[in-house]
Amino acid sequence: MTLHFSDDILSTIKDRLPVSEVVGKRVLLKQKGKDFLGLCPFHNEKTPSFTVNDQKEFYHCFGCGAHGDIFRFLVDYEKRSFPEAVSECALLSGVTITPMTPQQLQQKSERDQLFEILNIAKTLYADTLHSNKGQSFKDYLIRRGITPLSIKDFQLGCAITGELKKHLTQKNISLNLAEKAGALKLDNGEFKERFWDRLVFPILDIKGRTIGFGGRTLGESQPKYLNSSENDIFHKSDALYGIHRLNPKKNTAIFVEGYLDVIALVQAGFSNVFAPMGTSVTIEQAKRVLRHCQQIYFCFDGDNAGGKAMRRAADIFLPFVEPGIELRFVRLNPNEDPHSVVTEQSHQEMLKKLKAADNLITFLNKHELEQVFEDTPSNRALRRKRILTCLDKVSDHYLKSLYKNQVFELFKKNNNKTSGALLTNLPETVSLPALYEQSLLKAFLLHPELYLEFMEAIHSKSLTEGTLEALSIIENYVFSTDNLEFSSIVPYIKKNLPTLNTDELLGTVNIHAPFLSTPNDTQRIKDGIAEILDYFDTGISLDQHISDMQQRFKQTQDPKDWDVLKRLITQKAQRHNDDDR
Ligand code: UTP
Ligand code: MN
Repeated sequence: MTLHFSDDILSTIKDRLPVSEVVGKRVLLKQKGKDFLGLCPFHNEKTPSFTVNDQKEFYHCFGCGAHGDIFRFLVDYEKRSFPEAVSECALLSGVTITPMTPQQLQQKSERDQLFEILNIAKTLYADTLHSNKGQSFKDYLIRRGITPLSIKDFQLGCAITGELKKHLTQKNISLNLAEKAGALKLDNGEFKERFWDRLVFPILDIKGRTIGFGGRTLGESQPKYLNSSENDIFHKSDALYGIHRLNPKKNTAIFVEGYLDVIALVQAGFSNVFAPMGTSVTIEQAKRVLRHCQQIYFCFDGDNAGGKAMRRAADIFLPFVEPGIELRFVRLNPNEDPHSVVTEQSHQEMLKKLKAADNLITFLNKHELEQVFEDTPSNRALRRKRILTCLDKVSDHYLKSLYKNQVFELFKKNNNKTSGALLTNLPETVSLPALYEQSLLKAFLLHPELYLEFMEAIHSKSLTEGTLEALSIIENYVFSTDNLEFSSIVPYIKKNLPTLNTDELLGTVNIHAPFLSTPNDTQRIKDGIAEILDYFDTGISLDQHISDMQQRFKQTQDPKDWDVLKRLITQKAQRHNDDDR
């Protein structure tokens, strides 16, 4: 009996059962970072070149090229049949496999038919391109620097009016299903072709199956690119142009905007080049690529829209950025796109640009600089604030704090060059929130071992920038040593944040935080910290800051107070904007 397993079941099993567990039962493996290493069971060797990567869900031998997932391993190593391999893995992973119900089988068979129809359409489009009728389309591609080999690789074709419908009818294919597959459309009760007089870019899934098409007009008709519409097998947010050429052994991926960019870069020798479907990069696409690649480059069109789209892509990726994952950004000149760089300039030029790609913080800063023109303290503060807010999306706390440190550094340097260090100071000891923030710092200096417990809560509060900076240094300290204590944190702060006057901070009497007067009573300190953090929960702290500062400025008329006041107002406006979004 042949059993059919749904893709869902297979990927659930793979998600739950690490490759190292299956392989480790048969091959001696040693962990090396994220990989496991051992002697290859598929060829004879003395030094290990067989690797297993649980995250990527595959094994790979650099010696003989053996490569596959858990099922493949059992098939090749234990000589099991595929269903046997699936059953064994299902048992090990605790997933119950049921053969598909008749209804599921029916659905699967309809899906298979949709794939089949799209495959027929793709073949027809490709055949047409290589016939006389397609000559002008082929000439166009060649003129745009696309080689015959790439045309074949990407299975490009062209749609000539009337041909597909005729072809499908001749083959006795249900036009109804062809409409479901997105190859035809229903117009006033009549089946019409969705793509006509267009160059056709088949969109393939990771298994190489056709799931849809992008069609480019060579004339003036609109839109320039027409894509398949959403249906059972084509999901714009999930599809990724170029994914069928995924090379899981390469760590690097390049995101570009257009189909032609993908083809041109792959043709120039780059691998793992992907483009979304004319939309922004989506969460699904990010997750998919991050399963295989850790170095992600973004190289969108050089125009303004391209810059904005890269910024949006960064937003999408940031929640998934974890230790080991690197985002890099290439900003092209205004009239360039990746396709034009490799075809009009060279592979070398593209390589140079990739090598010189900006890191996350540099990119975010440059992007902000493009948005605000005048370099006033207030704009500078706004820029810094926006970047810091954006970094809040990073979920790994340590990484987030390292990124934030880069921002503090960046702005410190710039500040030195121009006006005084406006934002590196702690809030003036005037308002109640400011006093509370100082008490918080003091509490963590006295008891750094309490920091981790409150870290999540701290990250969710809107504290003053100076306090945030000091807290992030405390955070670094906490992550830098296992031996957390007062005697080593103070020198650490003095070295890493000399602007913070720890002596003064420790020396002040905190009438608003009496718990600090009994530094040995850890429980009392803990309750005190929680109480302070609760205070910031009320969400009125910024308003209080502002009204306190207004009062103060009325009395002092000091420009420094005015600067702080302006900054607080900007912060508030910024927060409103964020809320509106
Ligand atoms: P571009 O307009 O930059 O096109 O759109 P391109 O890929 O560089 O191609 P050429 O050089 O003009 O021929 C980038 C991508 O946006 C989507 C397509 O996926 C395209 O590849 N797009 C663009 C649409 O979906 N519809 C459109 O009308 C335009
Ligand atoms: Mn383009």
